[in-house]
Amino acid sequence: MASVLDSLRKCSIVVADTGDIDAVARWRPQDTTTNPSLLLSAAQDPRFLPLVQKAFADGKGQTEATVDHLFVAFGCEILKHIPGRISTEVDARLSFDSEKSIEKARRFISLYEAAGVRRERILIKLASTWEGIRAAERLEREGIHCNLTLLFSFAQAVACADAGVTLISPFVGRIYDWHKAARKVEDIPIAEDPGVASVTKIYAYYKKHAYATQVMGASFRKVEQILALAGCDLLTISPELLEKLNSSSGSVERMLSPEKAKKLSIEKTPLDHKAFLWQHNADAMAVEKLSDGIRRFDADARKLEAAVGALMQSARAAA
Ligand code: E4P
Repeated sequence: MASVLDSLRKCSIVVADTGDIDAVARWRPQDTTTNPSLLLSAAQDPRFLPLVQKAFADGKGQTEATVDHLFVAFGCEILKHIPGRISTEVDARLSFDSEKSIEKARRFISLYEAAGVRRERILIKLASTWEGIRAAERLEREGIHCNLTLLFSFAQAVACADAGVTLISPFVGRIYDWHKAARKVEDIPIAEDPGVASVTKIYAYYKKHAYATQVMGASFRKVEQILALAGCDLLTISPELLEKLNSSSGSVERMLSPEKAKKLSIEKTPLDHKAFLWQHNADAMAVEKLSDGIRRFDADARKLEAAVGALMQSARAAA
């Protein structure tokens, strides 16, 4: 009998959520997603030291340039193992600055293109703040495709669809984490999982109203959450959970489908800036998790910069 992973691949595109190039080569996903935390961990792994050294040389002694080159170096290497797209994330410090986010996205695209990678193979990851969504709207018009991340509220999803972004990454696990902590429980049964419910609702809204934006469930804590979203356009999964899905056999039941969604009665609810802020603000979990997510990606990006800075100092001392 086929593995659960192979069965899942029949109804959802499987994406690897990792900076570990060997894991990408092993799991052969369609696409791969990275973020500053995943790349911090990969950059500290001795297996990938040559990529760090290359970025260091290309960055010519400048920390920000070195980090940009590092993200792109990992992206290029990962692309050798997949047929699809790599997601590369814009610095979290720019989450409330559309202009600077656009500049950074263009910079990544120019580095990829200089390395011979077409922009169709890149998704620029931006936080789903109002400013991030507006930046994505403009980038999409330039043919730069975007993946809107740190997405916790329905309001964020509605605004992303109206902006015509290529893909969104609604988080499951971090919503589950927040509710577990709020309720002081060890687990929430899958039938009541608020992260799964969030993605299910967003998927139904998108398909009902025929939005082209793809929905990629992200941030999983357990296999059951992944299986409860089988049928979602894409699912980005850590190597640990890919391993678990691969090591059990069975067939996966499709839970989400455009046909099912089309039968539901769901009103279309476009949002202007004020309505977006109001509705997002009404969701305490989403407000906390979006801010926390930006802080965490920023903290890891700063650690990466510090590591790059230390490397540069020791190179100068040795020269
Ligand atoms: C993917 O886009 C996200 O970066 C990732 O799934 C976050 O997962 P985490 O909540 O396990 O950090």
